[in-house]
Amino acid sequence: MNLRDKIEELLKEVEQFQAQTLDEIEAFRIRISGSKGVIKAFFAEFKNVPDEQKREIGQQLNRLKKIAEDKIKTLKQSLSRPVRNEGKSEDLTRPGNAVEVGGAHPVSIVRDKIVDIFSHIGFVLSEGPEIEDDWHNFTALNLPEHHPARDMQDTFFITRNPDILLRTHTSSVQVRYMETHKPPIRIISPGRVYRNEDISARSHCIFHQVEGLYIDKNVSFADLKQTLMYFTGEMFGKSKIRLRPSYFPFTEPSAEVDIYWGLETETDRRITKGTGWLEIMGAGMVDPNVLKNVGIDPEVYSGFAFGMGIERIAMLLYQIPDIRMLYENDIRFLSQFRTVI
Ligand code: PHE
Repeated sequence: MNLRDKIEELLKEVEQFQAQTLDEIEAFRIRISGSKGVIKAFFAEFKNVPDEQKREIGQQLNRLKKIAEDKIKTLKQSLSRPVRNEGKSEDLTRPGNAVEVGGAHPVSIVRDKIVDIFSHIGFVLSEGPEIEDDWHNFTALNLPEHHPARDMQDTFFITRNPDILLRTHTSSVQVRYMETHKPPIRIISPGRVYRNEDISARSHCIFHQVEGLYIDKNVSFADLKQTLMYFTGEMFGKSKIRLRPSYFPFTEPSAEVDIYWGLETETDRRITKGTGWLEIMGAGMVDPNVLKNVGIDPEVYSGFAFGMGIERIAMLLYQIPDIRMLYENDIRFLSQFRTVI
């Protein structure tokens, strides 16, 4: 028989081989693939194969070698699975292996809660990109180049001229949405924002905000206040708020929103610095210039916007003393949060 036929024959044998015990497999391995085995002998014989057949028979031989090795390996694996319960009965009352259940990150929990509260009064979710252009992050929001208010929101630039940057606030989503939708508009827009700031217990160069925007005919400051009272009531169970005059280029008038947290406990006094009041967001009536920039007629429509930091609220609710804990991904910290909203 020539080598080619011998290889074919052995291939068939290998393919048909079955074994009940590891010993049988080992005997097979020694006979076929062992260092003095048949395949080894075939390789020796291969040297005498005429040159013009070397290529084809060489491939055939290598294939046989591989198939034999694979077969031995799979047979071994299928037999060497641990055999359980050999006569001895297991303790069936023993507790099982616990499955680790993960939870949402506190920032996600608070974000989802805020979005949920606003969705109940008709606000729809809308998100925008974290990498923004100058127009959407600054200029359209009435923050022209060289405006001093830009200093409060220094950020990371990806390119200059044209300026492409990491957005400093979620207010950019207001612009994107108004450019592509007609009033009435009611959106709630959570997302990550960036600022070129030193990292400390209170501030970070990355954080999260939620933006709200409401544009329609006859939207008034009273609607803003009522909406915020609804929100604080749902979110914190406290709806006493005050609006302190403030400044944002994209709202007029503008306000900082404080919530009355109370002075009942030691913690209340500490986090409110003895005043009972806590600042939770910025808000105001959308500046007519912003409406003009996005092609909405300020003579017909008006509206309000607000923006809040999610970390700040998470820190408040969960009494987290340092914002950095939210980014360190320490499982001992994170596993204290279990999501049920
Ligand atoms: N974008 C403002 C900030 O980041 C917050 C804000 C949003 C204020 C909407 C007013 C209206 O500080």
